[in-house]
Amino acid sequence: MTRHLLSIDDLGGAEGIDEVLRLTDSFVEVSERAIPKVPALRGKTVAWLFYEDSTRTRLSFETAAKRLSADVMNFSVSSSSVKKGESLRDTVQTIEAMGVDAIVVRHGSAGAPWQVAKWSNASVINAGDGWHEHPTQALLDCYTIRQSVGSCEGKRIAIVGDIKHSRVARSDVLAFTALGAEITLVAPPTLLPPSLVGWPVQVSHDLDAVLAKTDIVYLLRMQRERMSSGLVPSLREYSARYGLTRRRVDLLDADAIVMHPGPMNRGVEIAADVADLPRSVIVDQVRNGVAVRMAVLFLLLGSGSDKVLPAPERDRKPEGEEMSTEQAAVT
Ligand code: CP
Repeated sequence: MTRHLLSIDDLGGAEGIDEVLRLTDSFVEVSERAIPKVPALRGKTVAWLFYEDSTRTRLSFETAAKRLSADVMNFSVSSSSVKKGESLRDTVQTIEAMGVDAIVVRHGSAGAPWQVAKWSNASVINAGDGWHEHPTQALLDCYTIRQSVGSCEGKRIAIVGDIKHSRVARSDVLAFTALGAEITLVAPPTLLPPSLVGWPVQVSHDLDAVLAKTDIVYLLRMQRERMSSGLVPSLREYSARYGLTRRRVDLLDADAIVMHPGPMNRGVEIAADVADLPRSVIVDQVRNGVAVRMAVLFLLLGSGSDKVLPAPERDRKPEGEEMSTEQAAVT
C-alpha cells in the first residue's frame, strides 16, 4: 500500500483496489458487532483539514477513525486561523507540529492534497480536491457494486450528469475501468470535459437510448451554480432530458441498480420517489463509506499484524500460518 491515497491510481490497479475491498469485508463485520470497535490504530492520530463543506465524507472518516481506536483532531476552517489569513502550508505545519499520523484533506483546488503531502510527514488522504479526484468515494462505490451485483467486471455503467465538474466521475472512471466495467458518460455537451482524450469511455447525449443497455446508473449532482454560468438552459429542461424519472427507470433491466454519491437534488437529477426504490443503493453507499474508510486508514497506518498485535505476540515469530492483514485488522 502506498503511503498516501491521493488518487485511485495510487492503488496500482485492480489488485490494489481489490485489497481495499477485501479488507472492507472485515470492517463491515466489525461494524455489525455490538461494540463496533477494534484497537488497530490505538496511539495514532488522524486530523481533518476540510476547506469545503461535507456531510458524508467527513462524518464517515471520523466514525472510521474512532472505530479503529485512533485519536482524532478536528479542524474547521470556519472557526480556525485560516479566517485570519493563515496559509494552507502554515496550517499543515501547525497541525503536523502537534503530532499527527494522517491528514484527511478536502480542498476546492485540484492538487491541494499533493501539496499537503509535500509539506507533511503524515499520510495524506484526498477527500476531494476541486474537480479532480475523490478516491475514497470511488472505493465505496466499487464496494457497493460488488455487494449489490457481484462485481464491476463486464458491467455496463452509465455515469449521468455534470461530468465536467465532478471529481467523483474522474475517480469512478479510473476505478470502474480498472475493475473491468464498460462506462458510458451521459451528459449535454456543455457538461462534459473539453477533451476526453485518454478517457476509456463512450459518450452519449441520449439517456433513454443508454438505459436499456445499462446495469448501473450512476447519477451526479446537478450543481445549481451551473445555471448562472449558462451551461444548461434551465433545471426543468435538464431534468426533462437527463433526470432519472419513474418512466426512465422502467427502461432498465429488472436487476439494474441506481447510485448517487450524494448530496442529491431530488426532483432534478433524480425523481424523489426513484431515490427510494429498492433498486436504489444510495443508502448502502453511505453505510459502506465507513468500512471502506476504516480499510484505507488501516492500510495506510496499521500496515498489518506487526502494528496491531500486542508487543509479546508481535515479537514472537508465528508458527504455521501467519495472520492475514484482514485477521490482524479485526482482532
Ligand atoms: N459524496 C460526498 O463527498 O458527500 P459529502 O460532500 O457530503 O462529503
